[in-house]
Amino acid sequence: MPHIPVLLPESVKLLLEAPSLADGGVVVDATFGGGGHSRALLQEGTEKTTVIAIDRDPAAVSRARSLLSEFPSRFRLLTGNYADLSHLLIGIGIERIDGLLLDIGLSSFQLEDEERGFSFQSDGPLDMRMDPAVGQPAAEIVNRADVRTLTRIFRNFGEEPYAAAIARRIVRQRREAPLRTTRELAVLVEEMVPAHKTFRRHPATRVFQALRIVVNDELGALAKVLERGLEGLNPGGRMVVIAYHSLEDRIVKQFFRQAARGCVCPPKIPVCVCGRRPRVRLLKGRGQRPSDAEIARNPRSRSAVLRAVEVL
Ligand SMILES: C[S@@+](CC[C@H](N)C(=O)[O-])C[C@H]1O[C@@H](n2cnc3c(N)ncnc32)[C@H](O)[C@@H]1O
Repeated sequence: MPHIPVLLPESVKLLLEAPSLADGGVVVDATFGGGGHSRALLQEGTEKTTVIAIDRDPAAVSRARSLLSEFPSRFRLLTGNYADLSHLLIGIGIERIDGLLLDIGLSSFQLEDEERGFSFQSDGPLDMRMDPAVGQPAAEIVNRADVRTLTRIFRNFGEEPYAAAIARRIVRQRREAPLRTTRELAVLVEEMVPAHKTFRRHPATRVFQALRIVVNDELGALAKVLERGLEGLNPGGRMVVIAYHSLEDRIVKQFFRQAARGCVCPPKIPVCVCGRRPRVRLLKGRGQRPSDAEIARNPRSRSAVLRAVEVL
């Protein structure tokens, strides 16, 4: 199934209405995926709007061919990690941008390709690397980390209540034979999570999420791109982030709130001495969620939260 873009009109409108884009400029789609957002930005932006797309997954980049031929002068595509945003852009001579979109997480293409090892619903190698040439596959962690490390990973990055029991079970199992496939891991996790706790989600959801986050250093990359993005945006430029789970959304929310904060002097002090000025204006203070109609059309969107800021 193709990837259905999430919160598409909302995010594109926010980006294209950025004051600094009024006379044209550069919008970066740092999570190209299936190209849904890039396409809409190109179609709805003016002739003076250039879109630069980035994805760390070489398979995503290979899907960009038709956009490259339809918009040869307004579309560029880079392969790389958005954590390296500034370097990637400087590499093509761009220092300032007017919009940045982060639609984080996985595309349906990645989830549905069983060879990539992201899905507990199919059987593939335990890999989970977004860029198969970078980092260690999930199997390395699952078969080598000790019980304490595995517990910490499942607890911290999956918020898994049965983290320790699952970790112990994995270590016991691998004494017989290493875990090699997504199905083997999913079955083990299913055994350890009581059936009545799996009402809404597959029992392996949290463990797979945790491993994926660690394999790809997803939270580290997110923290970096938020800061680099803010530094690179022109005044009046906008950043829009769509997150799909609470760990990511918390990082985005706190980062935006901090950036929007002005003076932090205690209320007793009559005149500001800290000199701190807000760097951004919050555009969606409480975050925007997909409508019921969008969730019905695309159930994958149900956990999405969009947050956006404008640089002052
Ligand atoms: C949810 S999909 C984006 C879907 C896209 N907006 C669309 O409408 O088709 C997320 C994409 O971001 C990519 N990605 C995730 N983390 C990344 C990172 N640190 N650097 C670059 N790309 C990343 C993934 O490989 C994936 O293709």
